[in-house]
Amino acid sequence: MSDEEVQLEARLEAQDVFEPPESFVEQANVADPAIYDEFEDEWPGAWERAAELLDWDSEWDQVLDDSDAPFYEWFTDGELNASHNCLDRHLDERGEEAAIEWIGELGEKRTYSYAQLHREVNEFAAALRELGVEEDDVVTMYMPMIPELPVAMLACARIGAPHSVVFAGFSADALATRMESADSEFLVTCDGYYRRGDPLPHKEKANEGLEDVGHEVETVVVDRLDDDYDHPMKEGEHDYDELVAAHEGAEVDPVTRDAEDMLFLMYTSGTTGQPKGVKHTTGGYLSYAAWTSHAVLDVKPDDTYWCSADIGWITGHSYIVYGPLALGTTTVMYEGTPDYPEKDRLWEIVEEYDVTQLYTAPTAIRAFMKWGKEYPDSHDLSSLRLLGTVGEPINPRAWKWYYKHIGDEDCPVVDTWWQTETGGMMLTTLPAIGEMKPGSAGPPLPGVSADVVDVGGDPVGAGEAGYLVVNRPWPGMLRTLYNNDERFIDEYWREYSNPDRDEWVYFPEDGAKLDEDGYITVLGRVDDVLNVSGHRLGTMEIESAIVGVEGVAEAAVVGGKHDIKGEAVYAYVITEDGTEENEALRERIIEGVEDAIGPIARPESVIFTPELPKTRSGKIMRRLLEDIANGEELGDTSTLRNPDVVSDIQSKVGGD
Ligand code: WT7
Repeated sequence: MSDEEVQLEARLEAQDVFEPPESFVEQANVADPAIYDEFEDEWPGAWERAAELLDWDSEWDQVLDDSDAPFYEWFTDGELNASHNCLDRHLDERGEEAAIEWIGELGEKRTYSYAQLHREVNEFAAALRELGVEEDDVVTMYMPMIPELPVAMLACARIGAPHSVVFAGFSADALATRMESADSEFLVTCDGYYRRGDPLPHKEKANEGLEDVGHEVETVVVDRLDDDYDHPMKEGEHDYDELVAAHEGAEVDPVTRDAEDMLFLMYTSGTTGQPKGVKHTTGGYLSYAAWTSHAVLDVKPDDTYWCSADIGWITGHSYIVYGPLALGTTTVMYEGTPDYPEKDRLWEIVEEYDVTQLYTAPTAIRAFMKWGKEYPDSHDLSSLRLLGTVGEPINPRAWKWYYKHIGDEDCPVVDTWWQTETGGMMLTTLPAIGEMKPGSAGPPLPGVSADVVDVGGDPVGAGEAGYLVVNRPWPGMLRTLYNNDERFIDEYWREYSNPDRDEWVYFPEDGAKLDEDGYITVLGRVDDVLNVSGHRLGTMEIESAIVGVEGVAEAAVVGGKHDIKGEAVYAYVITEDGTEENEALRERIIEGVEDAIGPIARPESVIFTPELPKTRSGKIMRRLLEDIANGEELGDTSTLRNPDVVSDIQSKVGGD
């Protein structure tokens, strides 16, 4: 490094607060700080400005109906269609503009103008109808990042059939569980996709999953790999291209949906082994996705906006598909990995497409840091105007690296905290208004009310850690867990609400800290949920996969700190015959987890132990196992029934 660079690094390191760049403020969608007061003064009516970003078939009666809290309803009796809002209404002015810029891993490119996307969505919607999909039928999609995925989602939205997208990296078992839980009789999947240049079969996994679904399923298969892979078709399955061709030029009127009608289901991990089917609605969710894309990501129709998440997660639903397309912008979709063929792949794309906003995850930023600044440095990234991060806490060093080496100190960085359940962003600075503090997401959005409280629900003071809570409903909130209102209340509303006084407080199960300016630093989950590379995994799900492996008697899974992934899976395992080293079993355990959930849940470390540290009442001391995984000092172990086991386990992890 030159002297100048050394000085620059030192200056950045010492700086804790960053002002929004003037050039950004001048052109921002939302730049007047009065927005916060306006929302307070007019709450909940202020949320109309989110709904007004959309076209409605009929106007709502009431912005918020809280008469049956916590089953809140938003924009009641309003009617609209999401596919119309993401496509039809843009045709006159933006029909020839790009809606989706898709880049395949091998370097293929496909541009879908709004007119083309509209056409294919109509054709596929007609095809789905012919296959028997009716309004309110749940259609499952098990697909990677190929354009047919958003086409299928929008086709479902057009005919009022909720979709349930299952991340392509999830296993066959995970697919089957979700299809069964949603009683889904339709599946759209594909033959495979490319990973690091090689074809990766996917259809076998889908087939395997379908074998475990106890009802008939109509399946549509997209042929992504052509001749590179001869995929196993089952009898009666439909080829996507043939279906679309058979409905060439078809037009399907968008079905008018009630604001509260379900737009989609998204399964996510919780404390128990059973994934939760989060229900999102047409009016509230879409308004919220559009409003946050407008206010936080500063999306404008002429932008080329890129969120590098996968559509299989909520981030991709809200900020690759629904938010950006509702606003009529160009959304970039990239099929592959960031380091293929080279570690500058993302920067090559930013340069080639003149990307204006980039929204990615801390785990990716930490990998870019490790690879080195020469990769972004070798590209012209000056088209970028705003940077965003999501999925897990970002450490200040990674934040500053992103700000400097990608944003050239000229782009605001929004650190957005939210969840599958919240539908869209909740805590973040507004990019033209709030000063940025690396490591701290920021204040709640205008109209959102959040606080940090102690176990008893009382607010903790500035600087103290506690539990994050949300005190008021918001339009993008989940409405319930599919077919399980009781679990919905138990999981999110039991802890801090006061039903007798009709006071409802949402508990996201995150720990947090508040500072004197009202900025919130999210510290991470306080339940048994791990965050591996920004992906949410339940420890119980992993444990039950491990216990299902022959030869395993008991297992405990915790998260250990990881430089790139944030957290990594540590599995402590007791074998049936008491053996403590068994390579073959270790491999079977890893395989078992991959089969039950997917490679993202693969244990970083499997530690065989004769016992697990337990309290006298027989509870596994997970905290202790976490400290051991992290090589940290252990606190008091005297309450353990079996304190001796601790040093034994410690020596094994240390020697790993
Ligand atoms: C959990 C939600 C939101 C879409 C991606 C993940 C963690 C998310 C942040 C952030 C600190 C964050 C929380 C949250 N999280 N964003 N900016 N700072 N933590 O959605 O799979 O539902 O996971 O991700 O722990 O509860 P998800």
